[in-house]
Amino acid sequence: MKTIFSGIQPSGTLTIGNYLGAIQQFVELQNNYNCYFCIVDEHAITVPQDRLELRKNIKSLAALYIASGIDPDSSTLFIQSEVPEHTQLGWMLQSISYVGELERMTQYKDKSQGQEAISSALLTYPSLMAADILLYNTDVVPVGDDQKQHLELTRNLAQRFNNRFNDIFTVPEVRIPKVGARIMSLQEPSKKMSKSDTNQKGFISMLDEPKRIEKKIKSAVTDSEGIVKFDKKNKPGVSNLLTIYSSCTGESIADLEKKYEGKGYGDFKQGVANAVIDTLRPIQEKYEQLIQSDELDAILDQGRDKASLSAGKTIKKAKKAMGLGRK
Ligand code: TYM
Repeated sequence: MKTIFSGIQPSGTLTIGNYLGAIQQFVELQNNYNCYFCIVDEHAITVPQDRLELRKNIKSLAALYIASGIDPDSSTLFIQSEVPEHTQLGWMLQSISYVGELERMTQYKDKSQGQEAISSALLTYPSLMAADILLYNTDVVPVGDDQKQHLELTRNLAQRFNNRFNDIFTVPEVRIPKVGARIMSLQEPSKKMSKSDTNQKGFISMLDEPKRIEKKIKSAVTDSEGIVKFDKKNKPGVSNLLTIYSSCTGESIADLEKKYEGKGYGDFKQGVANAVIDTLRPIQEKYEQLIQSDELDAILDQGRDKASLSAGKTIKKAKKAMGLGRK
């Protein structure tokens, strides 16, 4: 069975973008792959975090993974900082990463823009991400479109290590969904929807109440044409809503265009809101049960132990290949 690894940062409540771009694929793939799903808290601290908020977000993300349909008995769900091999291999991979290639990462450029003091971890973030993936002999990494460049670097680092030392790493493939790989902000449809957006109206959180979801979608930026048609370049707002609608219901964009032919944006936006609310409702209900139970700790303990087993084997080989330690 092939192996999947993916991670999500616990840096705020997940958005519908995280769900449609990432988690929905995880759920779909989990029965056919040996899966590792990680809460990457060490990635989250590359920008300042409040310690209590971070702790809360870690638990909340674990609950959201499960509430969305990740089965913790068949998939391994764990917290990155509880498996120290991640930072260990991260450091080793930093030693073969070049500053130039790290500086070229668009996520680094975006996050460091306008900052006076940039943490060095923000720059070396992709080497840690490569370590996450390579520790588990990962074949496939399902992610949204914004992680493509990091995956390309991961592949390069794996090949570089294999050529320079010993052929121990599997070179992973990226998997990006056909629809929903890049959900845009509701307020600025030229910008990616992000959980760290300061404009709350720009994103739908997975835990937003139905009324709030409806309000946000009704105030989403569209255009004055009044025609429901997919045209990313000229109608980015409507195209984004069509993508969200299609990803939530599974209806094709062409079918949706037909469904709303001759109707205005009011009807269309109501349809989008209903689709999102219906998708999130069962997840939110399950989440409320989970977050109040003790189940999560047992699941995360079990995940940590399973992940450690595989990570321990890889780090041993990698250290030997590089000549670290005594044997
Ligand atoms: P993060 O936490 O920003 O996002 C988690 C996942 O959600 C996807 N995503 C989106 N998809 C569609 N539309 C959007 N607007 C949108 N926003 C986010 C992301 O592509 C991602 O798949 N560096 C990673 C975390 C990470 C990781 C890893 C991922 C660390 N180690 C190893 C895969 C493998 C990140 O910041 O994701």
